[in-house]
Amino acid sequence: MRIAIDRLAVAYDDRRVIDGLSLTIDPGTIFTLLGPSGCGKTTLLRAIAGFVPVAAGRILFGETDVARLPAHRRNIGMVFQDYALFPDKTVFENVAYGLRARRTDDAAVRRRVGEALDRVGLGAFADRLPAALSGGQRQRVALVRALVIQPDVLLMDEPLSNLDSKLRHQVRETISELQREAGITTVFVTHDQDEALAMSDRIGVMNAGRLEQVGAPAEIYRTPHTAYVADFIGAANILSADLAAPAAAGATVRLAIGGRHVGAVCPQPLPAGPVRIVVRPEDIAMAPADGATDEMLSARVVRRHYLGAKTGYAVTLTDGTRITIDVSGPDHDRFATGDSVAVRIDPSRALAIAP
Ligand SMILES: Nc1ncnc2c1ncn2[C@@H]1O[C@H](COP(=O)(O)OP(=O)(O)O)[C@@H](O)[C@H]1O
Ligand SMILES: [Mg+2]
Repeated sequence: MRIAIDRLAVAYDDRRVIDGLSLTIDPGTIFTLLGPSGCGKTTLLRAIAGFVPVAAGRILFGETDVARLPAHRRNIGMVFQDYALFPDKTVFENVAYGLRARRTDDAAVRRRVGEALDRVGLGAFADRLPAALSGGQRQRVALVRALVIQPDVLLMDEPLSNLDSKLRHQVRETISELQREAGITTVFVTHDQDEALAMSDRIGVMNAGRLEQVGAPAEIYRTPHTAYVADFIGAANILSADLAAPAAAGATVRLAIGGRHVGAVCPQPLPAGPVRIVVRPEDIAMAPADGATDEMLSARVVRRHYLGAKTGYAVTLTDGTRITIDVSGPDHDRFATGDSVAVRIDPSRALAIAP
């Protein structure tokens, strides 16, 4: 089922938290809303679910505008951070709940709930109460409870946040597998960029109730359009530089920075003047200071982390800007704290964006 959100506004006590947000999610895909706490992820998800009223705009499931339908008429499955299982019902009855509400006959309930629990390895736990399960098991119950009703749309609000890192990875795999098997259109909310990059077909990075950028994970990581997105998705260095003449989208430009020059690509058109360079730590090379050319920046090593396969360096440029550099390959650990070095930013990997 395709989801199309059109100029949506959601308000709490007349304060608009989301205002004019539009978004399309292709059928069968997993779309992640990513952003820091308070940016409006839960509010948007709850508006899609029907748990908060919509002040303006449309929410289409296929051809149907559900924006003013009550939650129980939207055929959604929802998974929450705190599992939200019924504590006094067995695992079986938790999963059966939605089917019983739809007046499914007993034999079909037994069969579907049994199959669903088996699918996530919890067949033997049907008679337990939620309190007798681990966090990972509880979240699997919540996941199959959401899916067993065959919803049109699956909505998940930070479902992995209460799990420790090993369980988080396991449940993440389970979610991805079941989502693909069911071919269900899914909206996944997280503030964790790794989770978003690993799980999503597309990601929408949210900032203060707006979608700052929407794209495939590699697109968001490789070509962030703003410093906010670059900063939020993985480690990014952000440097100030100057652009001599206006540049078109896609152009490769030569930027002045402290008397030297750095090449970069412009994902968006840019006017002449101050710009920012966004570059990942793995896209900067380091050389001994005596080999410096016009395309290199002078720097001094201030910190060094040996990580086995690579070394992470922090260096300061002559203007005091601190950047991080990941060096891999032979001799990646050859520089020491205090060394004067020359750094070269890979011009095909660096982005020039508006300041
Ligand atoms: N029930 C509510 N009443 C009033 N304001 C709320 C309510 N829920 C959330 N907000 C506000 O709406 C904004 C977005 O919150 P939320 O959607 O929960 O963000 P996120 O899920 O990204 O952390 C925040 O400023 C938050 O304080
Ligand atoms: Mg939230």
